[in-house]
Order: sequence, then structure tokens, then C-alpha cells
Amino acid sequence: MKFYIETYGCQMNVSDSELVRSVLAAAGWEEASAPDEADLLLFNTCSVRQHAEDRVLGRISNEKRRKLERPGLKIGVLGCMAQRMGKRLLEEDTGIDFVAGVDQYRDLPRLLASESGISNELDPLQIYPGLQPRHQDKSCAFVTVMRGCDNFCSYCIVPYVRGRERSLPADDIYNEVRRCGEEGRKDVTLLGQNVNSYRYGDTGFPQLLSRLDGIDSIYRLRFITSHPKDLSDGLIDVMAGGKRICRHIHLPLQSGDDTVLRAMNRNYTYEHYRGLVEKLRKAMPDIAITTDIIAGFPGETDTMFDNTVAAMRDIGFDYSFCFKYSPREGTVAASLPDQVPEEIRLKRLQKIVELQREITLEKFKAQIGTEIEVYVEGWSRKSNRQVSGKTSDYKIAVLSGGEKDMGTLKRARVVRATAGTLICE
Ligand code: 5AD
Ligand code: SF4
Repeated sequence: MKFYIETYGCQMNVSDSELVRSVLAAAGWEEASAPDEADLLLFNTCSVRQHAEDRVLGRISNEKRRKLERPGLKIGVLGCMAQRMGKRLLEEDTGIDFVAGVDQYRDLPRLLASESGISNELDPLQIYPGLQPRHQDKSCAFVTVMRGCDNFCSYCIVPYVRGRERSLPADDIYNEVRRCGEEGRKDVTLLGQNVNSYRYGDTGFPQLLSRLDGIDSIYRLRFITSHPKDLSDGLIDVMAGGKRICRHIHLPLQSGDDTVLRAMNRNYTYEHYRGLVEKLRKAMPDIAITTDIIAGFPGETDTMFDNTVAAMRDIGFDYSFCFKYSPREGTVAASLPDQVPEEIRLKRLQKIVELQREITLEKFKAQIGTEIEVYVEGWSRKSNRQVSGKTSDYKIAVLSGGEKDMGTLKRARVVRATAGTLICE
């Protein structure tokens, strides 16, 4: 029996799908290389924006036709949508046979053997102890260090679907990172909704990072995501003194306006954020800073939006993931007055996307002529004599090379740049 899994949304879902693969493999399932070879189709879903949910529902409604050709085919929905609207999905004529939320993956074998489409209640604070993820990428790996979120940013569905924060044992994380390196995955990204609030016994995030930095089997260590309210001086010190810790931080700003930040329940001001950027750049002049920005949060006026634009110019992020505010049922922001009309949200989004493209291009061009170190991860899309990979500061680079270079660090000189790639010799 074969399964096929399609993953949507953030890296946490990518990582969870690797746990699901492990659960299914232990139950005797094999992974299919395409949906039409599968007896079981799984969709690991995202609820963070309406658009993400619509896309998956569209995909499922396409796939359910396969049931006519392949009787016995089962379709399952995993992840945040299963958690948020599982029962509703089963009641409607969606073709979905079962749902399993983010804490219920251990129950999948039982669910598959039963007629019921709903998982038994398991411990809602799963950390999946003892379950080794089946890492998919040959040269990089995600390692989850904490699950859930307690921050309740007013726009965000995550705390409702992923539940309360809990951290994984530091020893388990250490062993997993070491194993990744030994298996050739030398670029490891630690994952958590807010890694800065990691705590297991006496170990906080800076201590954890410092310990993992000593693992010889890996070349590079990254982490996402940091919340600006919890980013400590201790963490900046560990980053600056690290041997393997990358020169990159993802630090979501969300808005450059204090009134909006307050309404978002972010618990920091722009000035505080700006101070963090200064500290980071003072400690590590070559650090790349990337961010998330939401355009058109309820009540955002033109002036407030202009503050975000000014902040983006002022800081000069290496990259920004820009989003149009999407109301999520059940969150505080969804019922705020003064929802911004769709056309204005879209116009604002387009403006910041374009602005960031210009800034990113400048940042990439500034590296022309310099020598960089690239961790080679795969082939370049354009040529079979060129390989590609990432720099420590999270930029994609293309350089000449071949099979023998995969999974190694290469030095190269940047000769050209686009807003997404450093082209090297
Ligand atoms: N609308 C738009 N963007 C959102 N994000 C989270 N919730 C919403 C929402 N309701 C964005 C935030 C977060 C990123 C992962 O997704 O910027 O940092
Ligand atoms: Fe959502 Fe805020 Fe938690 Fe991030 S920190 S997952 S934006 S509630």
C-alpha cells in the first residue's frame, strides 16, 4: 500500500510531514512518487491565510475524481485545517475520508484501519518523543525544537490550531542534529513558532544554540522564527561567537507603526525593533535580516502604512515576506471595526513587494566582487554544469560545479546579481 503526501504552508508543516512519513513507514506503508500511484492521498494543510485554505480545497476537489478510477482510494486532511475545521470538512461533500490534527499523527494507523474519519483524542501537547522524522532533503534538514505558540498576535490563527507552547528535550534535539550531520545533512534549521521562548529544564534558547554549535558533524546552523519581544542580548552574543551559526536572522516586524503593532498584540514598538537591528548589526556587521510584513491590518490608515514603508527603507531588510491581511475566524482582529477594503490591502501589498524587490536587488548587487562561501545543495535550474546553494546569510548562489560538489562548502566570487540569485565564478 502506498501513500502520497502534499505539504502546504510553513516549514513546521514540512517537518510534520516528515514525522507522518515515519509513522506510516512503521505501519508498513510505502511512499508513492506521484498521486496516481497512491492508495492514500494526504494533504498537510495551512490555515494562516484564506488563500492557503482555498488552494488546498481546490486541489482536493480535483483529486477526489480519482476515486472513480481507484476504488478504495482514501483522502486525508492533516495539519492546521484539520484542526480548525475538521468536522465541517467531513460533513460536507468534499471527498475527504478522514482528518487528523497536528497532535494526532500517532493515531494515523488506527484511523486508516477504522471507518471513523475522526481521530481519537490524543495528548493535545504532543512533542512526538522517540519518533525520528524521515528527512526528505539530502543536504539540509529541519529540526523542530518547540511546538505551539502562546503569543496570540491578534491576526493569527496559529495559537488556536497548534495549541500551547512546549519544548522538546535538549538532549533529543542534540542527538537529532548530530544524526542529521552524520547522514550528510550539514545545514540544519531549528524550527519553532517562537524559538526564543524555548525552555527545557535549565536550558533556554541561547544555551541550546550554543550547545548545538559544538556539533562537528554539521557545517551550518540556522533557526526560525524569532519574536522581537523575546530576542535577548544573550542570543546575540551566542550568534556572534558561534562557529556554525549562520549570519541570518528572521525577525518578523509585521508593521512599522506603533498603533498597529499594539492592535496586533505584538508587545514591542518600532523603536525597540530598531534597537534590536542596531545591536545585531553591531555584533555581526555581515548579518542578513529578513522579516514578515502584513499590509492592511484592520484600522491601518495611509499614514500608518507609510510608517511601514518608511521602516522598510530605514532598516533595509535583505528580504521581506509580504502578506495581505486575511481575516481568520475566531481571532481578535477578525472582529475589529475598520476592516481595510480588499482593493486597498492589495494596493499596499503591491507597493511593499515592489519596494522590497528594489532593496533586495541592491543588497545582492552590493556583494558583486566579494568572495562568498556556498553550501552546495543541488543543480542550478539553468545548466547541468552549474550547481546552486545558499550562503550563510541566506542568499541563493549559482556557481560552476558538478556532482562531487554536492553537500560541500565552496568558495566563489560573485560576478553578477539579480534580486534572487548571486551568480558566481
Ligand atoms: N493575514 C495575513 N498574514 C498573516 N500572517 C499570520 N496571520 C496572518 C493573517 N491573518 C503572517 C505573519 C506571520 C507569517 C507567518 O504569516 O506575517 O509572521
Ligand atoms: Fe502567530 Fe504571533 Fe504566534 Fe507567530 S508569534 S505564530 S504570528 S501568534
